[in-house]
Amino acid sequence: MISTNALYTDLSGYYDLMCCDINYLAQSSSVHRLNKMLGNGKHSHLDLACGTGPHIRHFIDFGYQSSGLDIHQPMLDLARARCPQASFILQNMADFTLQQPVDLITCFLYSIHYNASIAALKHCFASVYAALTPGGLFVFNAVDKDTICNRSAVRHSTWFDNSQFVFESAWHYSGRGEQQALKLSIAKTNAAGTQFWQDQHTMVAISFAELQALLCPYFEVHILAHDYDRITVWDNAAGNALFACVKRGA
Ligand SMILES: C[S@@+](CC[C@H](N)C(=O)[O-])C[C@H]1O[C@@H](n2cnc3c(N)ncnc32)[C@H](O)[C@@H]1O
Repeated sequence: MISTNALYTDLSGYYDLMCCDINYLAQSSSVHRLNKMLGNGKHSHLDLACGTGPHIRHFIDFGYQSSGLDIHQPMLDLARARCPQASFILQNMADFTLQQPVDLITCFLYSIHYNASIAALKHCFASVYAALTPGGLFVFNAVDKDTICNRSAVRHSTWFDNSQFVFESAWHYSGRGEQQALKLSIAKTNAAGTQFWQDQHTMVAISFAELQALLCPYFEVHILAHDYDRITVWDNAAGNALFACVKRGA
């Protein structure tokens, strides 16, 4: 059966296993460096679509006052257990408000695409703008819809609790319209047999040119290579990139 977003609810206990190959420290360090270069020198932080809070853990360790926002309570429960010092809010990033503005807002792992339409993305950017302090920085990664290859998938396997887990994820874009899908599957095999789950997530499809046009009224936009080891400009060709956006003056 194909579910929608089960990974963030019923299957949330498997999320960290699915992401066990991700170098969260490298990603967080890279954005910390960007904040030193482009930010306003202060350290309050909000992670949008924070999931189980792996980035927040590192930002707290770097000395930030971090908080997390997510739309699924089971993910926030796991994040709170990982980062008891942080505060968490259950909100939709397409339309959120903070009691106090922050200096840095991040959104990792292409989660910005969970704003499932261009209109939602516009609201999200307006919410981010309002939630940043003067000169604050907004950093996220994104994929350009026109570069999506429907034949490629990322697959990895790992062992946990006497079971083998195989995770697979792939983008799918029909080539038309403003929605793409993230297709995920989990196969868990142990002595009792194999269980298989398929999860499909609706996400916004957008080109980098469109993205830049949406961001420009609010931010000075730097498009960078999707490389967490070194900071270099995007080559105008790669299908994924890191967007570093400095809040414009009022
Ligand atoms: C791929 S996970 C990324 C989690 C984390 N940022 C990471 O890098 O591991 C996507 C997260 O986005 C959250 N999410 C999905 N739609 C959202 C929305 N509209 N507003 C806020 N969070 C959302 C999900 O609950 C999930 O925790």
